[in-house]
Amino acid sequence: MLDLFTQDPDRATTFSVETGDMRFDYAKTQIDAETRNALIKLCVSARLADRREAMFSGAKINETEGRAVLHTVLRNVDGGPVLVDGQDVIGEVRATLDRMEEFAHKTRTCCPAGDRVTDVVNIGIGGSDLGPMMAVTALSPYHDGPQCHFVSNVDGGHIADTIRNLNPASTLVIVASKTFTTVETMTNARTARAWMVDGGGDPSKQFVALSTAMDKAEAFGIPPEHVFGFADWVGGRYSIWGPIGLSLMLAIGADAFRAFLRGAQAMDIHFRCTDWQENMPVMLALVGIWHHQICGYRTRAVLPYEQRLLHLSAYFQQMEMESNGKRISMDGTDLEIVSGPVVWGEPGTNGQHAFYQLIHQGTAIVPCEFMIGATGHEPDLAHHHRLLVANCLAQSEALLRGRSLDEARERMVAEGFEGAELERQARHRVLPGNRPSTTLSYPLLTPFVLGQIVALYEHRVFVEGVILDINSYDQWGVELGKELATALYPVLDGQAELGDRDGSTAALFEFIKKHGG
Ligand code: F6P
Repeated sequence: MLDLFTQDPDRATTFSVETGDMRFDYAKTQIDAETRNALIKLCVSARLADRREAMFSGAKINETEGRAVLHTVLRNVDGGPVLVDGQDVIGEVRATLDRMEEFAHKTRTCCPAGDRVTDVVNIGIGGSDLGPMMAVTALSPYHDGPQCHFVSNVDGGHIADTIRNLNPASTLVIVASKTFTTVETMTNARTARAWMVDGGGDPSKQFVALSTAMDKAEAFGIPPEHVFGFADWVGGRYSIWGPIGLSLMLAIGADAFRAFLRGAQAMDIHFRCTDWQENMPVMLALVGIWHHQICGYRTRAVLPYEQRLLHLSAYFQQMEMESNGKRISMDGTDLEIVSGPVVWGEPGTNGQHAFYQLIHQGTAIVPCEFMIGATGHEPDLAHHHRLLVANCLAQSEALLRGRSLDEARERMVAEGFEGAELERQARHRVLPGNRPSTTLSYPLLTPFVLGQIVALYEHRVFVEGVILDINSYDQWGVELGKELATALYPVLDGQAELGDRDGSTAALFEFIKKHGG
Protein backbone atom coordinates (compact mmCIF):
# COMPACT_ATOMS: atom_id res chain seq x y z
CA MET A 1 0.00 0.00 0.00
CA LEU A 2 2.83 2.40 0.77
CA ASP A 3 4.10 1.79 -2.78
CA LEU A 4 0.71 2.79 -4.13
CA PHE A 5 1.05 6.13 -2.35
CA THR A 6 4.53 6.58 -3.84
CA GLN A 7 3.31 5.76 -7.34
CA ASP A 8 0.35 8.10 -7.12
CA PRO A 9 0.96 11.24 -5.06
CA ASP A 10 -2.73 12.13 -5.51
CA ARG A 11 -3.89 8.78 -4.19
CA ALA A 12 -5.69 10.31 -1.19
CA THR A 13 -7.86 12.32 -3.58
CA THR A 14 -8.24 9.70 -6.27
CA PHE A 15 -9.28 7.05 -3.77
CA SER A 16 -11.74 9.01 -1.72
CA VAL A 17 -15.30 10.20 -2.19
CA GLU A 18 -16.98 13.30 -0.87
CA THR A 19 -20.65 14.10 -0.64
CA GLY A 20 -22.04 17.11 1.14
CA ASP A 21 -19.58 17.61 3.95
CA MET A 22 -18.63 13.95 4.45
CA ARG A 23 -15.45 12.36 3.20
CA PHE A 24 -14.87 8.63 2.73
CA ASP A 25 -11.20 7.78 2.30
CA TYR A 26 -10.30 4.32 1.02
CA ALA A 27 -6.78 5.18 -0.05
CA LYS A 28 -5.36 2.95 2.71
CA THR A 29 -6.47 -0.22 0.91
CA GLN A 30 -4.83 -2.23 -1.82
CA ILE A 31 -7.35 -1.07 -4.37
CA ASP A 32 -5.66 0.51 -7.39
CA ALA A 33 -7.25 1.97 -10.52
CA GLU A 34 -7.42 -1.37 -12.30
CA THR A 35 -9.01 -3.10 -9.33
CA ARG A 36 -11.50 -0.32 -8.92
CA ASN A 37 -12.50 -0.57 -12.57
CA ALA A 38 -12.99 -4.30 -12.17
CA LEU A 39 -15.06 -3.78 -9.03
CA ILE A 40 -17.19 -1.18 -10.76
CA LYS A 41 -17.84 -3.69 -13.55
CA LEU A 42 -19.52 -5.83 -10.91
CA CYS A 43 -22.10 -3.07 -10.51
CA VAL A 44 -22.78 -3.23 -14.21
CA SER A 45 -22.98 -7.01 -14.43
CA ALA A 46 -25.23 -7.13 -11.35
CA ARG A 47 -27.52 -4.53 -13.00
CA LEU A 48 -27.18 -2.35 -9.94
CA ALA A 49 -28.76 0.69 -11.59
CA ASP A 50 -31.94 -1.26 -12.38
CA ARG A 51 -32.05 -2.82 -8.92
CA ARG A 52 -31.56 0.54 -7.27
CA GLU A 53 -34.40 2.04 -9.30
CA ALA A 54 -36.57 -0.96 -8.49
CA MET A 55 -36.00 -0.37 -4.77
CA PHE A 56 -36.66 3.37 -4.81
CA SER A 57 -39.75 3.04 -6.98
CA GLY A 58 -41.49 0.45 -4.80
CA ALA A 59 -41.02 -2.78 -6.78
CA LYS A 60 -41.30 -5.92 -4.62
CA ILE A 61 -37.60 -6.62 -4.46
CA ASN A 62 -37.99 -8.55 -1.21
CA GLU A 63 -39.12 -11.48 -3.30
CA THR A 64 -39.16 -14.15 -0.59
CA GLU A 65 -41.67 -12.13 1.41
CA GLY A 66 -43.42 -10.53 -1.57
CA ARG A 67 -42.74 -7.01 -0.27
CA ALA A 68 -41.39 -3.70 -1.47
CA VAL A 69 -38.39 -2.22 0.37
CA LEU A 70 -39.22 1.40 0.98
CA HIS A 71 -37.63 2.70 4.15
CA THR A 72 -36.41 5.54 1.91
CA VAL A 73 -40.01 6.79 1.69
CA LEU A 74 -40.03 7.45 5.44
CA ARG A 75 -37.38 10.14 4.96
CA ASN A 76 -38.59 11.39 1.62
CA VAL A 77 -39.84 14.50 3.40
CA ASP A 78 -40.57 16.49 0.26
CA GLY A 79 -40.29 14.14 -2.71
CA GLY A 80 -42.90 13.02 -5.21
CA PRO A 81 -45.32 10.08 -5.05
CA VAL A 82 -44.20 6.47 -4.63
CA LEU A 83 -46.60 3.73 -5.64
CA VAL A 84 -47.03 0.34 -3.99
CA ASP A 85 -49.66 -1.85 -5.67
CA GLY A 86 -50.75 1.22 -7.60
CA GLN A 87 -51.35 3.31 -4.44
CA ASP A 88 -49.30 6.35 -3.47
CA VAL A 89 -47.91 5.68 0.00
CA ILE A 90 -46.40 9.09 0.70
CA GLY A 91 -49.60 10.66 2.06
CA GLU A 92 -49.97 8.15 4.86
CA VAL A 93 -46.30 8.34 5.78
CA ARG A 94 -46.50 12.11 6.12
CA ALA A 95 -49.75 11.95 8.07
CA THR A 96 -48.14 9.54 10.55
CA LEU A 97 -45.08 11.78 10.86
CA ASP A 98 -47.38 14.72 11.61
CA ARG A 99 -49.21 12.69 14.27
CA MET A 100 -45.89 11.67 15.81
CA GLU A 101 -44.82 15.30 15.94
CA GLU A 102 -48.05 16.37 17.56
CA PHE A 103 -47.77 13.57 20.11
CA ALA A 104 -44.10 14.35 20.78
CA HIS A 105 -44.86 18.01 21.27
CA LYS A 106 -47.64 17.23 23.77
CA THR A 107 -45.58 14.65 25.62
CA ARG A 108 -42.54 16.90 25.84
CA THR A 109 -44.62 19.64 27.40
CA CYS A 110 -47.21 17.73 29.46
CA CYS A 111 -47.92 14.12 30.33
CA PRO A 112 -51.10 12.32 29.10
CA ALA A 113 -51.90 11.59 32.75
CA GLY A 114 -51.61 15.24 33.66
CA ASP A 115 -48.06 15.46 35.00
CA ARG A 116 -44.88 15.87 33.07
CA VAL A 117 -43.42 12.76 31.41
CA THR A 118 -40.02 12.38 33.00
CA ASP A 119 -39.04 9.08 31.44
CA VAL A 120 -39.73 7.05 28.31
CA VAL A 121 -39.14 3.31 28.23
CA ASN A 122 -38.89 1.89 24.71
CA ILE A 123 -39.63 -1.83 24.79
CA GLY A 124 -38.51 -3.56 21.60
CA ILE A 125 -35.79 -5.81 20.26
CA GLY A 126 -33.62 -6.03 17.14
CA GLY A 127 -34.55 -3.25 14.75
CA SER A 128 -37.21 -2.01 17.17
CA ASP A 129 -34.52 -1.34 19.75
CA LEU A 130 -31.05 -1.01 18.26
CA GLY A 131 -31.81 1.89 15.89
CA PRO A 132 -33.53 4.18 18.40
CA MET A 133 -31.10 3.23 21.18
CA MET A 134 -28.13 3.93 18.92
CA ALA A 135 -29.52 7.28 17.73
CA VAL A 136 -30.72 8.47 21.14
CA THR A 137 -27.26 7.75 22.56
CA ALA A 138 -25.50 9.32 19.57
CA LEU A 139 -27.45 12.56 19.78
CA SER A 140 -27.33 13.22 23.51
CA PRO A 141 -26.11 16.83 23.00
CA TYR A 142 -29.52 17.50 21.41
CA HIS A 143 -31.61 16.01 24.22
CA ASP A 144 -34.12 18.39 25.68
CA GLY A 145 -36.97 15.96 26.29
CA PRO A 146 -37.67 13.13 28.71
CA GLN A 147 -35.00 10.63 29.62
CA CYS A 148 -35.16 7.60 27.29
CA HIS A 149 -34.48 4.04 28.42
CA PHE A 150 -34.40 0.89 26.34
CA VAL A 151 -35.49 -2.59 27.35
CA SER A 152 -34.94 -5.40 24.88
CA ASN A 153 -33.77 -8.62 26.52
CA VAL A 154 -36.31 -11.10 27.86
CA ASP A 155 -33.88 -11.57 30.75
CA GLY A 156 -35.92 -10.13 33.61
CA GLY A 157 -32.78 -8.38 34.81
CA HIS A 158 -33.07 -5.93 31.94
CA ILE A 159 -36.51 -4.57 32.73
CA ALA A 160 -35.99 -4.86 36.49
CA ASP A 161 -32.83 -2.75 36.37
CA THR A 162 -34.47 -0.23 34.04
CA ILE A 163 -37.67 0.44 35.93
CA ARG A 164 -36.26 0.14 39.44
CA ASN A 165 -35.80 3.87 39.89
CA LEU A 166 -38.57 5.11 37.59
CA ASN A 167 -41.88 6.57 38.65
CA PRO A 168 -44.76 4.60 37.05
CA ALA A 169 -46.94 7.71 37.16
CA SER A 170 -44.60 9.83 35.06
CA THR A 171 -43.24 7.20 32.67
CA LEU A 172 -44.37 6.67 29.10
CA VAL A 173 -43.95 3.11 27.82
CA ILE A 174 -43.48 2.60 24.10
CA VAL A 175 -44.09 -0.92 22.83
CA ALA A 176 -42.11 -1.02 19.59
CA SER A 177 -42.69 -4.14 17.52
CA LYS A 178 -43.27 -4.41 13.81
CA THR A 179 -45.20 -7.65 14.26
CA PHE A 180 -46.46 -7.12 17.82
CA THR A 181 -45.86 -10.82 18.43
CA THR A 182 -42.18 -10.92 19.37
CA VAL A 183 -42.04 -12.89 22.59
CA GLU A 184 -39.36 -10.79 24.30
CA THR A 185 -41.19 -7.54 23.60
CA MET A 186 -44.64 -8.80 24.54
CA THR A 187 -43.32 -10.36 27.77
CA ASN A 188 -41.57 -7.12 28.74
CA ALA A 189 -44.64 -5.07 27.76
CA ARG A 190 -46.89 -7.13 30.04
CA THR A 191 -44.40 -6.80 32.90
CA ALA A 192 -44.24 -3.03 32.37
CA ARG A 193 -48.01 -2.81 32.30
CA ALA A 194 -48.32 -4.67 35.63
CA TRP A 195 -45.61 -2.42 37.13
CA MET A 196 -47.47 0.68 35.99
CA VAL A 197 -50.82 -0.49 37.34
CA ASP A 198 -49.24 -1.43 40.69
CA GLY A 199 -47.55 1.95 40.88
CA GLY A 200 -50.67 4.00 40.26
CA GLY A 201 -50.04 4.79 36.57
CA ASP A 202 -52.59 4.39 33.81
CA PRO A 203 -51.52 2.19 30.89
CA SER A 204 -54.49 3.32 28.81
CA LYS A 205 -52.91 6.78 28.79
CA GLN A 206 -49.23 6.00 29.27
CA PHE A 207 -48.69 3.21 26.74
CA VAL A 208 -47.92 3.78 23.07
CA ALA A 209 -47.55 1.19 20.31
CA LEU A 210 -45.42 1.36 17.16
CA SER A 211 -46.34 -1.45 14.82
CA THR A 212 -47.63 -2.68 11.48
CA ALA A 213 -50.18 -4.77 13.44
CA MET A 214 -52.46 -1.98 14.64
CA ASP A 215 -55.22 -4.47 15.53
CA LYS A 216 -52.91 -6.41 17.85
CA ALA A 217 -51.76 -3.20 19.52
CA GLU A 218 -55.34 -2.19 20.16
CA ALA A 219 -56.16 -5.69 21.43
CA PHE A 220 -53.34 -5.20 23.94
CA GLY A 221 -55.30 -2.23 25.28
CA ILE A 222 -53.53 0.66 23.61
CA PRO A 223 -56.01 3.25 22.31
CA PRO A 224 -55.91 4.01 18.55
CA GLU A 225 -54.67 7.57 19.12
CA HIS A 226 -51.59 6.07 20.77
CA VAL A 227 -50.88 3.61 17.97
CA PHE A 228 -48.48 4.73 15.24
CA GLY A 229 -48.55 2.39 12.31
CA PHE A 230 -46.25 1.64 9.42
CA ALA A 231 -46.37 -0.65 6.43
CA ASP A 232 -44.78 -4.07 5.95
CA TRP A 233 -42.43 -2.61 3.32
CA VAL A 234 -40.36 -1.14 6.17
CA GLY A 235 -37.92 -3.82 7.33
CA GLY A 236 -37.37 -3.96 11.10
CA ARG A 237 -33.66 -3.16 10.83
CA TYR A 238 -34.44 -0.20 8.53
CA SER A 239 -37.28 1.22 10.59
CA ILE A 240 -35.66 4.02 12.64
CA TRP A 241 -36.96 6.63 10.17
CA GLY A 242 -40.65 6.19 10.98
CA PRO A 243 -42.70 5.45 14.11
CA ILE A 244 -39.93 3.25 15.53
CA GLY A 245 -37.97 6.50 15.86
CA LEU A 246 -40.54 7.98 18.25
CA SER A 247 -38.27 7.71 21.31
CA LEU A 248 -35.63 9.66 19.38
CA MET A 249 -38.17 12.32 18.47
CA LEU A 250 -39.26 12.55 22.11
CA ALA A 251 -35.64 12.98 23.18
CA ILE A 252 -34.50 15.55 20.60
CA GLY A 253 -37.73 17.13 19.35
CA ALA A 254 -39.42 17.13 15.97
CA ASP A 255 -37.12 19.66 14.28
CA ALA A 256 -33.96 17.72 15.10
CA PHE A 257 -35.70 14.48 14.09
CA ARG A 258 -36.54 16.04 10.73
CA ALA A 259 -32.89 17.06 10.34
CA PHE A 260 -32.00 13.38 10.91
CA LEU A 261 -34.43 12.41 8.13
CA ARG A 262 -33.02 15.09 5.86
CA GLY A 263 -29.51 13.76 6.30
CA ALA A 264 -30.67 10.35 5.17
CA GLN A 265 -32.64 11.88 2.31
CA ALA A 266 -29.51 13.71 1.15
CA MET A 267 -27.67 10.37 1.09
CA ASP A 268 -30.56 8.78 -0.84
CA ILE A 269 -30.35 11.48 -3.50
CA HIS A 270 -26.57 11.10 -3.70
CA PHE A 271 -26.87 7.32 -3.99
CA ARG A 272 -29.58 7.52 -6.62
CA CYS A 273 -27.99 10.15 -8.84
CA THR A 274 -24.20 9.73 -8.69
CA ASP A 275 -21.86 7.77 -10.95
CA TRP A 276 -20.46 4.66 -9.35
CA GLN A 277 -16.93 5.93 -8.79
CA GLU A 278 -18.16 9.06 -6.99
CA ASN A 279 -20.96 7.26 -5.20
CA MET A 280 -20.15 6.88 -1.51
CA PRO A 281 -22.40 3.91 -0.65
CA VAL A 282 -21.28 2.12 -3.81
CA MET A 283 -17.59 2.62 -3.12
CA LEU A 284 -18.06 1.60 0.54
CA ALA A 285 -19.80 -1.54 -0.70
CA LEU A 286 -17.11 -2.30 -3.28
CA VAL A 287 -14.40 -1.94 -0.66
CA GLY A 288 -16.41 -4.41 1.43
CA ILE A 289 -16.73 -6.86 -1.47
CA TRP A 290 -13.03 -6.51 -2.22
CA HIS A 291 -11.98 -7.27 1.33
CA HIS A 292 -14.45 -10.01 2.16
CA GLN A 293 -15.25 -11.85 -1.05
CA ILE A 294 -11.97 -11.31 -2.90
CA CYS A 295 -9.19 -10.89 -0.32
CA GLY A 296 -10.95 -13.35 2.01
CA TYR A 297 -10.86 -11.20 5.16
CA ARG A 298 -13.68 -12.73 7.14
CA THR A 299 -14.65 -9.93 9.50
CA ARG A 300 -14.70 -6.16 9.46
CA ALA A 301 -14.49 -3.76 12.37
CA VAL A 302 -16.55 -0.58 12.70
CA LEU A 303 -14.48 1.82 14.79
CA PRO A 304 -16.13 5.17 15.45
CA TYR A 305 -13.92 7.61 17.33
CA GLU A 306 -17.02 9.00 18.97
CA GLN A 307 -18.06 7.60 22.32
CA ARG A 308 -21.69 8.51 21.64
CA LEU A 309 -21.64 6.02 18.74
CA LEU A 310 -21.33 3.32 21.37
CA HIS A 311 -24.17 1.27 19.89
CA LEU A 312 -23.35 1.85 16.23
CA SER A 313 -21.51 -1.40 15.64
CA ALA A 314 -24.31 -3.47 17.24
CA TYR A 315 -26.79 -1.61 15.04
CA PHE A 316 -24.70 -2.20 11.92
CA GLN A 317 -24.23 -5.80 13.00
CA GLN A 318 -27.96 -6.43 12.67
CA MET A 319 -28.22 -4.30 9.54
CA GLU A 320 -25.39 -6.12 7.76
CA MET A 321 -25.51 -9.63 9.18
CA GLU A 322 -29.28 -10.11 9.20
CA SER A 323 -29.40 -8.64 5.69
CA ASN A 324 -26.49 -10.31 3.95
CA GLY A 325 -25.91 -13.46 6.00
CA LYS A 326 -27.65 -15.67 3.41
CA ARG A 327 -26.74 -18.89 1.60
CA ILE A 328 -29.22 -19.01 -1.25
CA SER A 329 -29.18 -16.68 -4.25
CA MET A 330 -32.19 -14.90 -5.67
CA ASP A 331 -32.96 -17.72 -8.11
CA GLY A 332 -33.15 -20.29 -5.30
CA THR A 333 -29.81 -22.00 -5.98
CA ASP A 334 -26.91 -22.36 -3.54
CA LEU A 335 -24.72 -19.30 -3.31
CA GLU A 336 -21.34 -20.20 -4.77
CA ILE A 337 -19.43 -17.43 -3.00
CA VAL A 338 -19.26 -16.44 0.65
CA SER A 339 -22.06 -14.16 1.83
CA GLY A 340 -21.73 -11.16 4.14
CA PRO A 341 -18.95 -10.81 6.72
CA VAL A 342 -18.97 -10.76 10.51
CA VAL A 343 -19.26 -7.13 11.61
CA TRP A 344 -18.08 -6.01 15.00
CA GLY A 345 -16.42 -3.08 16.77
CA GLU A 346 -16.32 -0.58 19.59
CA PRO A 347 -15.60 3.10 19.79
CA GLY A 348 -12.02 4.28 19.84
CA THR A 349 -9.99 4.98 21.80
CA ASN A 350 -11.40 2.24 24.08
CA GLY A 351 -10.90 -0.53 21.55
CA GLN A 352 -7.21 0.36 21.32
CA HIS A 353 -6.79 -0.96 24.85
CA ALA A 354 -8.70 -4.14 24.16
CA PHE A 355 -8.61 -5.77 20.73
CA TYR A 356 -6.33 -3.60 18.56
CA GLN A 357 -3.46 -5.91 19.47
CA LEU A 358 -5.02 -8.57 17.23
CA ILE A 359 -5.75 -6.04 14.52
CA HIS A 360 -2.10 -4.98 14.40
CA GLN A 361 -0.31 -8.28 14.95
CA GLY A 362 -2.79 -11.16 14.73
CA THR A 363 -2.63 -13.49 11.76
CA ALA A 364 -6.21 -12.68 10.68
CA ILE A 365 -6.48 -9.42 8.78
CA VAL A 366 -9.38 -7.22 9.87
CA PRO A 367 -10.29 -4.33 7.57
CA CYS A 368 -11.06 -1.40 9.86
CA GLU A 369 -13.71 1.24 9.20
CA PHE A 370 -12.70 4.31 11.18
CA MET A 371 -15.05 7.24 11.72
CA ILE A 372 -14.13 10.62 13.11
CA GLY A 373 -15.72 14.04 13.52
CA ALA A 374 -13.64 17.16 12.89
CA THR A 375 -14.96 18.67 16.10
CA GLY A 376 -16.76 17.52 19.22
CA HIS A 377 -19.68 18.95 21.13
CA GLU A 378 -17.54 20.04 24.09
CA PRO A 379 -15.68 23.23 23.10
CA ASP A 380 -14.27 23.44 26.63
CA LEU A 381 -12.66 20.05 26.10
CA ALA A 382 -11.11 20.70 22.70
CA HIS A 383 -7.85 19.10 23.84
CA HIS A 384 -9.75 15.84 24.40
CA HIS A 385 -10.96 16.02 20.84
CA ARG A 386 -7.47 16.70 19.50
CA LEU A 387 -6.27 13.57 21.29
CA LEU A 388 -9.17 11.62 19.84
CA VAL A 389 -8.35 12.74 16.30
CA ALA A 390 -4.64 12.07 16.79
CA ASN A 391 -5.42 8.53 17.92
CA CYS A 392 -7.82 7.81 15.08
CA LEU A 393 -5.41 9.00 12.40
CA ALA A 394 -2.47 7.30 14.12
CA GLN A 395 -4.20 3.92 14.15
CA SER A 396 -4.89 3.87 10.43
CA GLU A 397 -1.35 5.12 9.84
CA ALA A 398 0.08 2.36 12.03
CA LEU A 399 -1.96 -0.26 10.19
CA LEU A 400 -0.65 1.04 6.89
CA ARG A 401 2.95 1.59 7.81
CA GLY A 402 3.68 -1.06 10.43
CA ARG A 403 7.08 -1.38 12.06
CA SER A 404 9.89 -3.30 10.32
CA LEU A 405 12.40 -5.62 12.01
CA ASP A 406 15.15 -3.05 11.48
CA GLU A 407 13.07 -0.32 13.10
CA ALA A 408 12.25 -2.62 16.01
CA ARG A 409 15.93 -3.53 16.44
CA GLU A 410 17.00 0.10 16.35
CA ARG A 411 14.60 1.02 19.14
CA MET A 412 15.72 -1.93 21.22
CA VAL A 413 19.40 -1.17 20.82
CA ALA A 414 18.60 2.30 22.16
CA GLU A 415 16.99 0.57 25.15
CA GLY A 416 20.19 -1.45 25.75
CA PHE A 417 19.32 -4.82 24.20
CA GLU A 418 22.00 -6.72 22.33
CA GLY A 419 23.04 -10.09 20.91
CA ALA A 420 20.72 -13.09 20.85
CA GLU A 421 18.28 -11.50 23.27
CA LEU A 422 17.93 -8.50 20.95
CA GLU A 423 17.19 -10.79 17.98
CA ARG A 424 14.70 -12.91 19.93
CA GLN A 425 12.79 -9.96 21.35
CA ALA A 426 12.82 -7.73 18.28
CA ARG A 427 10.60 -10.05 16.25
CA HIS A 428 7.82 -9.67 18.83
CA ARG A 429 7.88 -5.93 18.27
CA VAL A 430 7.40 -6.07 14.51
CA LEU A 431 4.07 -4.89 13.11
CA PRO A 432 3.67 -6.13 9.55
CA GLY A 433 1.63 -3.13 8.40
CA ASN A 434 0.03 -3.11 4.96
CA ARG A 435 -3.30 -3.67 6.71
CA PRO A 436 -6.34 -2.03 5.15
CA SER A 437 -8.58 0.59 6.65
CA THR A 438 -11.03 3.24 5.52
CA THR A 439 -11.92 6.48 7.26
CA LEU A 440 -15.23 8.30 7.18
CA SER A 441 -14.92 11.87 8.40
CA TYR A 442 -17.55 14.50 9.01
CA PRO A 443 -17.61 17.96 10.62
CA LEU A 444 -19.68 17.23 13.75
CA LEU A 445 -22.07 14.48 14.79
CA THR A 446 -25.33 16.36 14.23
CA PRO A 447 -28.73 14.74 13.57
CA PHE A 448 -28.22 15.47 9.86
CA VAL A 449 -24.80 13.79 9.80
CA LEU A 450 -26.08 10.77 11.72
CA GLY A 451 -28.87 10.44 9.16
CA GLN A 452 -26.27 10.49 6.39
CA ILE A 453 -24.09 7.87 8.08
CA VAL A 454 -26.95 5.43 8.69
CA ALA A 455 -28.34 5.80 5.16
CA LEU A 456 -24.81 5.37 3.78
CA TYR A 457 -24.52 1.98 5.48
CA GLU A 458 -28.06 0.95 4.52
CA HIS A 459 -27.26 1.53 0.86
CA ARG A 460 -23.92 -0.18 1.24
CA VAL A 461 -25.73 -3.29 2.45
CA PHE A 462 -28.13 -3.04 -0.50
CA VAL A 463 -25.28 -2.78 -3.03
CA GLU A 464 -23.39 -5.71 -1.52
CA GLY A 465 -26.60 -7.77 -1.54
CA VAL A 466 -27.21 -6.97 -5.21
CA ILE A 467 -23.67 -7.92 -6.17
CA LEU A 468 -23.93 -11.15 -4.19
CA ASP A 469 -27.36 -11.75 -5.77
CA ILE A 470 -29.09 -12.42 -2.46
CA ASN A 471 -32.22 -11.06 -0.85
CA SER A 472 -31.03 -8.64 1.83
CA TYR A 473 -34.53 -8.07 3.18
CA ASP A 474 -35.75 -11.34 4.66
CA GLN A 475 -34.45 -13.13 7.79
CA TRP A 476 -35.68 -16.71 7.66
CA GLY A 477 -32.59 -17.85 9.53
CA VAL A 478 -33.94 -16.53 12.84
CA GLU A 479 -37.14 -18.57 12.73
CA LEU A 480 -36.04 -22.07 13.77
CA GLY A 481 -34.53 -20.91 17.06
CA LYS A 482 -37.73 -19.05 17.90
CA GLU A 483 -39.84 -22.14 17.16
CA LEU A 484 -37.63 -24.40 19.27
CA ALA A 485 -37.72 -21.91 22.16
CA THR A 486 -41.51 -21.83 21.96
CA ALA A 487 -41.53 -25.62 22.15
CA LEU A 488 -39.08 -25.73 25.08
CA TYR A 489 -40.85 -23.16 27.23
CA PRO A 490 -43.70 -25.47 28.33
CA VAL A 491 -41.10 -28.12 29.18
CA LEU A 492 -39.40 -25.69 31.56
CA ASP A 493 -42.81 -24.78 32.92
CA GLY A 494 -43.49 -28.46 33.67
CA GLN A 495 -46.37 -28.52 31.19
CA ALA A 496 -44.75 -30.78 28.59
CA GLU A 497 -42.22 -33.58 28.27
CA LEU A 498 -38.70 -32.97 26.99
CA GLY A 499 -39.31 -35.59 24.31
CA ASP A 500 -36.76 -36.77 21.80
CA ARG A 501 -33.96 -34.22 22.07
CA ASP A 502 -30.24 -34.51 21.31
CA GLY A 503 -28.09 -35.63 24.24
CA SER A 504 -26.50 -32.26 24.80
CA THR A 505 -29.80 -30.35 25.04
CA ALA A 506 -31.25 -33.05 27.30
CA ALA A 507 -28.20 -32.95 29.62
CA LEU A 508 -28.27 -29.15 29.82
CA PHE A 509 -31.96 -29.30 30.62
CA GLU A 510 -31.33 -31.80 33.44
CA PHE A 511 -28.52 -29.65 34.85
CA ILE A 512 -30.74 -26.56 34.90
CA LYS A 513 -33.61 -28.50 36.48
CA LYS A 514 -31.29 -29.90 39.14
CA HIS A 515 -30.09 -26.41 40.02
CA GLY A 516 -33.56 -25.01 40.46
CA GLY A 517 -34.59 -23.99 36.94
O1 F6P B 1 -35.94 -12.03 15.03
C1 F6P B 1 -35.48 -11.07 14.16
C2 F6P B 1 -36.44 -9.92 14.04
O2 F6P B 1 -37.53 -10.30 13.28
C3 F6P B 1 -35.76 -8.68 13.47
O3 F6P B 1 -35.68 -8.71 12.10
C4 F6P B 1 -36.58 -7.60 14.05
O4 F6P B 1 -35.93 -6.36 13.97
C5 F6P B 1 -36.78 -8.11 15.44
O5 F6P B 1 -36.93 -9.50 15.31
C6 F6P B 1 -37.96 -7.54 16.18
O6 F6P B 1 -39.16 -7.77 15.51
P1 F6P B 1 -40.47 -6.95 15.85
O7 F6P B 1 -40.21 -5.52 15.58
O8 F6P B 1 -41.54 -7.53 14.97
O9 F6P B 1 -40.77 -7.16 17.30
